[in-house]
Amino acid sequence: MADFAELKIDGKKVECPVIIGTEGEKAFDIGKLRSQSGCITLDPGFANTGSCASAITFLDGEKGILRYRGIPIEQLAEKSTFVETSYLLIHGRLPNHDELDAFSEAFNEHSMIHEDMINFFHAYPSTSHPMAILSAMVCAMSAYYPEFVKERPAQEEIDRIAIQLLSKVRTICAFSYKKSIGEPFVYPRYDLSYVPNFLNMMFSSPTHPYKIVDEVVRALQVLLILHADHEQNCSTSTVRLVGSSHANLYASISAGICALWGPLHGGANQAVIEMLEKIQKDGGNVSKYIAMAKDKNSNFRLMGFGHRVYKNFDPRAKIIKKRADDLLNKLGIHDPLLELAKKMEETALKDEYFIERKLYPNVDFYSGIIYRAIGIPLNMFPVMFAIGRLPGWIAHWKEMIQDPATKIGRPLQIYVGETKKDYTPIEKR
Ligand code: CMC
Repeated sequence: MADFAELKIDGKKVECPVIIGTEGEKAFDIGKLRSQSGCITLDPGFANTGSCASAITFLDGEKGILRYRGIPIEQLAEKSTFVETSYLLIHGRLPNHDELDAFSEAFNEHSMIHEDMINFFHAYPSTSHPMAILSAMVCAMSAYYPEFVKERPAQEEIDRIAIQLLSKVRTICAFSYKKSIGEPFVYPRYDLSYVPNFLNMMFSSPTHPYKIVDEVVRALQVLLILHADHEQNCSTSTVRLVGSSHANLYASISAGICALWGPLHGGANQAVIEMLEKIQKDGGNVSKYIAMAKDKNSNFRLMGFGHRVYKNFDPRAKIIKKRADDLLNKLGIHDPLLELAKKMEETALKDEYFIERKLYPNVDFYSGIIYRAIGIPLNMFPVMFAIGRLPGWIAHWKEMIQDPATKIGRPLQIYVGETKKDYTPIEKR
């Protein structure tokens, strides 16, 4: 392979160095293109633009491959825990026994939130979407823990904030749910590990202690692992972009939470269930809605379908579909929405429109079925995605701030507005 790609613009040749990743991915570096030719590249949605080199996650959308730090997602979903996977993403390798014990112990140390922050929950209307509360509270942590707010924290400081965020976000999410249903907050417990602790804070009450069921814990554990990172997606790119101005980690993560909220990204899990409920209420006519999804004059899209990168299948969706089946069987739940979702998938996958465009179910298509079975309310679904994605955001922020090649993110544009014209004052009345 040549070391340079050659571009010819107005008869002038520009050489762009070729970069090859460890999995053979190829790019050419256009960093000097503007100074050498006066041209920039235009790529709406950054569909063909690499913004950085990263050693965290590899994915191949054609082959349906996803690996964290080299380890296939299927193996992590089968054998790891969310806490161990978080360590892997943030530290770059799996922990040994002592490291995992110390990491888990530190989660306990940081699980409470500053008691004054409780006032925030009381100030929000009970109808607030929990993503609004979560993003605001995470940003507010920079005011409550100023000792961690540094332009360029040292390695140990970043690792400390990482644990603090992972642990406290879980508490904030559970508290925002309790606030929304008007029940007293349940504080974190030292004797429970990460997922049972979260479920206990969510579902225990003074009158009804929550019974921890192993299958539920494992299903949630798997969902969080599957969501933990996905390289340069919309929210992670947001975290990196905000952080590139040296905004602190809390502020950067808060921005990432807002980006995740949208229905084309992490809000899709909520949108899928809302869509399935709507179709069911309307008589369950699958063909009608598949036709609407294909109709360019309709605003309807098949939520939980399609992906910018996966053009074959989403390996996470495969694992989740099986988990949803297993969990519902084990809990003895019959969810008509699961049957409807399977029918929609079957019909869409045989349809020329979906085949031609390589549209497959994504991670969000079946995850909501599991959340429903666990008892998590609809508007908390994107919050569950945020809890899962947190270690990925932190790992990317850490990589970005420590990489000497990082520059402040500042895309360019092609101006298409008015050309120069003179100011004309408003005529006197
Ligand atoms: N239903 C119907 N048509 C679709 C869908 C869909 N869900 N997704 C894409 N298309 C069509 C789209 O209209 C376009 O058709 P045409 O070529 O005729 O104009 C073609 O497929 C390509 O779509 P695109 O919008 O250019 O693709 P994109 O890469 O910009 O968007 C996407 C990716 C995920 C935003 C989009 O597929 C979508 O809106 N899906 C539904 C929302 C969803 O499930 N989001 C969760 C994504 S996975 C979780 C995460 O990581 O965020």
